[in-house]
Amino acid sequence: MNNLKEYITNNKERFLNEIIALLKIPSVSADPAFSQDVINAAESVKNSLEDAGCDLAEIHETDGYPIVYGEKIIDKDLPTILVYGHYDVQPADPVELWDSPPYEPVIKKTTIHPEGAIFARGACDDKGQMFMHVKALEFMTKTNQLPCNVKFMIEGEEEVGSNNLAVYVAKNKEKLANDIILISDTGMIANDVPSITTGLRGLSYVEVEVTGPNRDLHSGLYGGAVANPINILTKMIASLQDENNHITIPGFYDKVEELSKEEREEMAKAPFSLDAYKKALDINAVYGEDGYTTNERNSIRPTLDVNGIWGGYIGEGAKTVIASKAYAKISMRLVPNQDWKEITALFKSHFENIAPKGVTVKVTPHHGGQGYVTPIDTIGYQAASKAYETTFGKKPIPQRSGGSIPIVALFEQELNSKTILMGFGLNSDAIHSPNEHFGVWNYLKGIETIPYFYEYFTNMNA
Ligand code: BES
Ligand code: MN
Ligand code: MN
Repeated sequence: MNNLKEYITNNKERFLNEIIALLKIPSVSADPAFSQDVINAAESVKNSLEDAGCDLAEIHETDGYPIVYGEKIIDKDLPTILVYGHYDVQPADPVELWDSPPYEPVIKKTTIHPEGAIFARGACDDKGQMFMHVKALEFMTKTNQLPCNVKFMIEGEEEVGSNNLAVYVAKNKEKLANDIILISDTGMIANDVPSITTGLRGLSYVEVEVTGPNRDLHSGLYGGAVANPINILTKMIASLQDENNHITIPGFYDKVEELSKEEREEMAKAPFSLDAYKKALDINAVYGEDGYTTNERNSIRPTLDVNGIWGGYIGEGAKTVIASKAYAKISMRLVPNQDWKEITALFKSHFENIAPKGVTVKVTPHHGGQGYVTPIDTIGYQAASKAYETTFGKKPIPQRSGGSIPIVALFEQELNSKTILMGFGLNSDAIHSPNEHFGVWNYLKGIETIPYFYEYFTNMNA
């Protein structure tokens, strides 16, 4: 790629201003109060695809938020890369924990990002990372170096489960036909330890409701004599993991793929400091399933976590009351081969089974999805690896992530193509949390690395 570094240096300020403009739009897909903003973000992405040189950039309506589709087809005989990303973001709350307002992006230096990081909701997940692809395309078209065909599919409902994207993909198989799918919506180990994400976990997300008496009761008059839904719910949740932190749902582990000793040894070679990990989180010990390391617990093992729990009196002071109902939201991260619908069904019947007399239990499934593993003996992975080697000066390490992008497994099913996960975020970038940020260095490094992927992937396919 000629003049790539110069192009990035010369356009750095504009590249930053453009992503900052997109980050100012609060495109929160989960909250209907922001629906116009989500639509505005789609429009903005469409315009930037046009500016970057797409021959076609369109807004495709769905039953939910639109999908932005763009393409530049230069030669039907050349390979086609399909870029996927999302322009929606997680809610910013609790807003009071942000050091600067979530939709007023600022660039600040941090220890990990000495060249500055953009602080805003969506900076890393996923507007900043998605936009790297738009700018990489701009470079390739403006300098006449686009080596293959490219299609963009940028959705607005990733953070709420991609339900409408699944329908869209199934309906548009031909339009979306491609040789490889490229996504930047994950992370890497460190700026001096490049890695490529080779696995994503699946997800089953459920909500549970425990009902006791038909109304809230005086805890003196009734306490001890009727089931307290909050006591019961917490007992039931506690019983879902045993003393070794194994999940107790019957059948839960049946399909879990156990890695070989060799594979685990290979994984353990990735640089990792348990001390730094604990220090970054202000914890004096890690915690998790017996028999597995921290990096195994958060990537190749399934988990069960309460994400929210509520019920009863939580206002000022004390109120002596037994609530009629208690609730929790529970997520289960799954590994390849575990089927999310099957796991959801197992959870439901187990949770209903363990409910004691005196309460009723309702389990409501939310969204979910399958896990995914990218094979590394493919042209796609090799091209990505070589691209990182070119721009980082080091061979990247393949690493499975704990996060989920449920639509990736579906891409493989419906479009029959593999996905390469070129993530440039860091775990410390606080995605989904207050003070989310994305390193300026990472943003520019992504823009620099992507064109090499295009070049190597095209050459390797020739
Ligand atoms: N980009 C993340 C997933 C991710 C982040 C994967 C970092 C690997 C490393 C994505 O936007 C996300 O948040 N996914 C959700 C699931 C979705 C169905 C709401 C998740 O993982 O919780
Ligand atoms: Mn994301
Ligand atoms: Mn996310």
